[in-house]
Amino acid sequence: MPRALFLDEPDGEAQLRDPPDDPLAEGEVRVAVSHSGVNYKDALAVTGEGKIIRGDFPFVPGIDLAGEVVESDASAFREGDRVIGTGWGLGETRPGGYAEHQRVPASTLVGMPEALTPRRAMVAGTAGLTAVLAVMALEEHDFYDSEALADTGEIAVTGASGAAGSFAVALLAEAGAEVVASTGSEGAHDYLRELGAVRIIGREALAGAPERPMQSARWAGAVDAVGGDTLATLISEMERHAPVASFGNAGGYELETTVFPFILRGVSLLGIDSNKCPDARRRAAWERLGGLLTYDVADCLTDRVVGLGDIGAAGEDVLAGRPRGRVLVKVGE
Ligand SMILES: NC(=O)c1ccc[n+]([C@@H]2O[C@H](COP(=O)([O-])OP(=O)(O)OC[C@H]3O[C@@H](n4cnc5c(N)ncnc54)[C@H](OP(=O)(O)O)[C@@H]3O)[C@@H](O)[C@H]2O)c1
Repeated sequence: MPRALFLDEPDGEAQLRDPPDDPLAEGEVRVAVSHSGVNYKDALAVTGEGKIIRGDFPFVPGIDLAGEVVESDASAFREGDRVIGTGWGLGETRPGGYAEHQRVPASTLVGMPEALTPRRAMVAGTAGLTAVLAVMALEEHDFYDSEALADTGEIAVTGASGAAGSFAVALLAEAGAEVVASTGSEGAHDYLRELGAVRIIGREALAGAPERPMQSARWAGAVDAVGGDTLATLISEMERHAPVASFGNAGGYELETTVFPFILRGVSLLGIDSNKCPDARRRAAWERLGGLLTYDVADCLTDRVVGLGDIGAAGEDVLAGRPRGRVLVKVGE
């Protein structure tokens, strides 16, 4: 009998047990999940620190999954197809990836790119997907006087040693950008250089509220996982017509700024939402991850691999900002 990790109440301890035998609904597939991951949202869910689950309890968390279709009631996928699931309520409003078998609406899944395996897809997971979407947004931006990210100047990544930040560093470096990684983890400097950062700055360099609405312009672009004062400072330090992609709130969700950087320097604030990302963009993003994630890069970006029974402890670690890169979950075979 395939097992699953259940939360019986929002702040209870997760329990591993057999799920009920549910038939497929129309348009659903059953996925034999081989891997998932522990994202920031998952960490909030399994530790009870944040109320991210909006489905009925008992509930199976896990906002990511990858595996093979074992039963299908949808024309899009057949038995044996390998698929990736992220977003569209997975692990938030609908049961998620911490289950050896899971029923999922086919419309929310992406077929696995040739270059990926379920394990390497989950090295990326929602974190990798979000980072690609942020990098794509920067690349599509109409820069003031440069065509390509490689020619723009320094691009800052905050929360750089976290899962999404690590992917942003690796993807920007792969695109030839001069990446400056901002981190509060002193032990992560070598890791970030290995991923391609040319310079490392301490988290505190961007942490306080900006003294003036517009400060010395230093950044040709930025990818922000932190939010709060860090994002406000980045906005105040952007060069003319430079973009900031914002996807995270690891340091705070409030944003105190002025309109001046936007109306006097033409700075753009680009919001990134991986959860309800349109299908064509999601596919393009996963193809790009397939190109990045060679075995070596995937190894470098994996902090550790845990089993279903170890997710609670891994969640505590993620909330404390300890992992470098991704915590991968080995779910089934
Ligand atoms: N918009 C979306 O679609 C989307 C998708 C995925 C994730 N997210 C959000 O993006 C953020 C990062 O996600 P993740 O999966 O990469 O999480 P993560 O692995 O926990 O990384 C977050 C990183 O932020 C830094 N950090 C932690 N606490 C901080 C604080 N108090 N002040 C400043 N920096 C702090 C740490 O990096 P350093 O030690 O290197 O500083 C930490 O490793 C989260 O807020 C998450 O909810 C959004």
